[in-house]
Amino acid sequence: MIWIVGNKGMLGSELSQILENRGIECVGTDKDVDILDPMALVAFAANKDISLIVNCAAYTAVDKAENEESLALRLNAEGPANLAALAVKRHAGFIHISTDYVFDGEGSVPYKENDPVAPLGAYGRTKAEGEKRIQAIDPDAIIIRTAWLYGQYGKNFVSTMLGLMNGKSELSVVADQYGSPTWAHDLAEAICAIADRTAPTAGIYHFTGEGTTTWYEFACEIQRLGLEFGVLTTPCKVKAITTDLYPTKAKRPAYSVLAKDKIKEAFGIYPPEWRDSLRKYFESIYQVKTGGEG
Ligand SMILES: NC(=O)c1ccc[n+]([C@@H]2O[C@H](COP(=O)([O-])OP(=O)(O)OC[C@H]3O[C@@H](n4cnc5c(N)ncnc54)[C@H](OP(=O)(O)O)[C@@H]3O)[C@@H](O)[C@H]2O)c1
Repeated sequence: MIWIVGNKGMLGSELSQILENRGIECVGTDKDVDILDPMALVAFAANKDISLIVNCAAYTAVDKAENEESLALRLNAEGPANLAALAVKRHAGFIHISTDYVFDGEGSVPYKENDPVAPLGAYGRTKAEGEKRIQAIDPDAIIIRTAWLYGQYGKNFVSTMLGLMNGKSELSVVADQYGSPTWAHDLAEAICAIADRTAPTAGIYHFTGEGTTTWYEFACEIQRLGLEFGVLTTPCKVKAITTDLYPTKAKRPAYSVLAKDKIKEAFGIYPPEWRDSLRKYFESIYQVKTGGEG
């Protein structure tokens, strides 16, 4: 049985739905079983034949984390460590999700799994600490770093852009941060493929959509599809700006593209192109606008 921790979040919901659709035995918990409460975790797992724990729970508010680093640290490091310890005790597999924000973004070629981490902000620091603690407790754990996640079950860049584009005639979007948008559904599929393997290969893996873009280009593509699918009725002027014109509490990496060769070689998982996935995401939610009557 697979235990999805954080099953009400964006990724956890997506994963739950795929497993349920496939009839794979799973259970899900969210804040009802607090990852900070080891006794609650043990009690929940008791009398269940848990073969794999997938941790999708996290503190994900990147800017807020700057003022709440100790809470973020508890949720992104202490909680995952509790789960890793339980996985070891129960001889269960453990898959944990981490982030591109563990890197400083000073690079100009895709980051490999063993490149040194150097987070710029509190969120990245707490996620990097989580990776470290998990690996110290459970050498068999699999950690998947992902980036720029969007999906139908949570607030994210796609939903935010569509909301803003609906109400504004002009919008400024940062065009000097590079990364790879990732559909939560694709990541959930990758997790399923890894879960399917009887002899998982421990360690850190990168998974994002294939290809590199900027938030600006991502926003333009969202608008193009939004108009095509009838989610938007009128175009909004999207202006490219530099990061210094859009100050945020947490500093973001300028370049956080992740190399995905390792997950391809180890598991035969080939992430789809980000533009193809974004189209599929729209297709999965919205009807294509039809030409006219008759
Ligand atoms: N979103 C991105 O762009 C992105 C990018 C890179 C990596 N990631 C990583 O991907 C993973 C999934 O992200 P996501 O966007 O799906 O996250 P999410 O939507 O924020 O989901 C996290 C879930 O964990 C729950 N949770 C919070 N505290 C908990 C606790 N003490 N015990 C149990 N559950 C708790 C949350 O509940 P509440 O919502 O009620 O707090 C939420 O349902 C995370 O590890 C994240 O760091 C995300």
